[in-house]
Formats: sequence, C-alpha cells, structure tokens
Amino acid sequence: MSHDHQHQHGGHDHGDESALADLLDLDAQALPEYLPEVTALIRDHLDDRPVRRILDMGTGTGTGALALTRRFPDAEVTAVDISEHMLTRLRDKASARGVADRIRTLRADLDAGWPELEPVDLAWAANSLHHTADPDRVLTDLFATIRPGGLLALAELNSMPRFLSTAGELGDLEDRAHEALAAETADHVPHLGSDWTTLLTKAGFEIETERRILISLTPPLPEAAARLAHSTLQRMRTGLADRLSAPDATALDTLLTAGPEGLASRPDLTVRDERPIWIARRP
Ligand SMILES: C[S@@+](CC[C@H](N)C(=O)[O-])C[C@H]1O[C@@H](n2cnc3c(N)ncnc32)[C@H](O)[C@@H]1O
Repeated sequence: MSHDHQHQHGGHDHGDESALADLLDLDAQALPEYLPEVTALIRDHLDDRPVRRILDMGTGTGTGALALTRRFPDAEVTAVDISEHMLTRLRDKASARGVADRIRTLRADLDAGWPELEPVDLAWAANSLHHTADPDRVLTDLFATIRPGGLLALAELNSMPRFLSTAGELGDLEDRAHEALAAETADHVPHLGSDWTTLLTKAGFEIETERRILISLTPPLPEAAARLAHSTLQRMRTGLADRLSAPDATALDTLLTAGPEGLASRPDLTVRDERPIWIARRP
C-alpha cells in the first residue's frame, strides 16, 4: 500500500517486497469488513449471467482474489502480478483455504504488454493501475478482456490511512508526513490520484457507481489494526527519510519505539480512511 517506488516494475528489492506483502495482508486482517463490502457492491451490479471467470490485475498477496472466490463460489480467478514473491504468497494462502484449484496465478509485467487471457465476467484492479507506466493503455486492454456486459471494479487510493489523533501535535505531525508523502508520490508515482472517472470513460466503460468507502475504527483498536498503524507509519518513515524535517523524523522514530511514548502505549489510536471504488461496465 505504500507508494515509495522501489517495489515496482520489476526493480525488485526483496526486503521491500516482503514488507509490502506483509502490509497488504495486515490491511485485510485489520479491516475485515472492507473487502466483503466491496464484493457485495460488485454483486449488486452484476447482470443476470453467472460469474465464472474473474481477473485480478496486480493481485499482490491476493486478498481481493480470495475475497472474490468467497463471494462468487462458482468462479475461477486468474491473478496477475509482476512479482513472483506476491504470487507465491497468494498460492500458499489459496492452498491453506482449500481454493487452490480456483485460483490461477500468472506472472506478467503489464508495462511490457498484455498477457493472453480468456474473456472474463469481472475484472478487479486494486491499487495496481497507478503503478503502471500507461494506465490508459492498461484500461483499454482490460476493456477488451471483459466480455460485453461484464464489470470492472477499480479501487484506487489517494493516500494512506491516518491513525493519530486529529488534534494537537501528533495530528500536525501526521499531516506533515502526509504532505511529504504526497510530494514523494507526485515525483515517483505520478498516476496515483489520477482522474479515474475520465480514464475509465475514455477506455469505453460506462460507470455505474463511484463510491467512497469510509473506514473509521475508534479506540481501543483491535491488535491487527494497531499493528497496521505501526507498519504504515514505519513504511512512511523509511520511504520519506529525506523529506521529513529532523524533528519530525525524531518524533516518528519515538512513536515507532516500544517505549512508553511509542504507539503501542497510546490508547487513542484510530484508523481513518476513504477508499474510492468505481464499478464500471463494458457495454
Ligand atoms: C499496492 S499493491 C496492491 C496489491 C493488491 N491489489 C491489493 O490491493 O492488496 C500493487 C501491486 O501491483 C503490482 N504491480 C506493480 N506494477 C506492475 C506491473 N507493471 N505489472 C504487474 N503487476 C504490477 C505489484 O507487484 C503489487 O503487487
């Protein structure tokens, strides 16, 4: 979920990939209602044909692919990612959950062209399109892969969740870290926060729904959500090393320690996020 750029496009830093994979899994664990809400929204927009074939582009550790196999028990999912590490993590989870025969993994670099794929009833792309060099082209290829009447569900975030109290010094610190993150992503992940409504329409899709799913967890946070706060702020601290002022870097380091001033000792942590989703149809 973090958008420092090391993990993309095959330039693989394996430590970073593994840390990102942990964070993707932790996100699904800490926010267990999010994916079921998204898959229910998708179900509500389907036409009367059954969902048999699903494509997950940029699947990561496959939290979306697994949620889709649960929601659509007759469907098989093709899960595509550039990273073999991510795909291995997905295969392990699919085996553990008894759905290995319903998930096919495919390693492909979407920037290098489009893999050969059968037409699908539903495509899912979550926070992956902004990593590609040319999302316009990827959306056009996606459009061609979805059968007429089929759906694309696109999830694209603009930033990272917030965890610290909105009032006071910590809220100000988190605001400044988010400003630094916005500057970092503007330089390295230019398609983050694109005008997806316009891009989807340009590719030929008809937008059925555009929704912001609100996430709001209040104290006391479940253990996984507290770990998500720590991992996210740790990732921001590492990725923004050159962009934070020295006092802000020190303040974040203190929060990330196990001591009495660390996150683990704070009873006031929250999780606040807005996750935009588009449900679009190929006419
Ligand atoms: C932020 S993660 C999101 C993963 C997953 N969809 C989720 O929401 O948990 C982005 C994923 O896109 C993959 N990715 C980035 N660039 C890619 C490319 N050019 N081709 C295929 N996959 C790519 C990354 O390896 C990573 O797994």
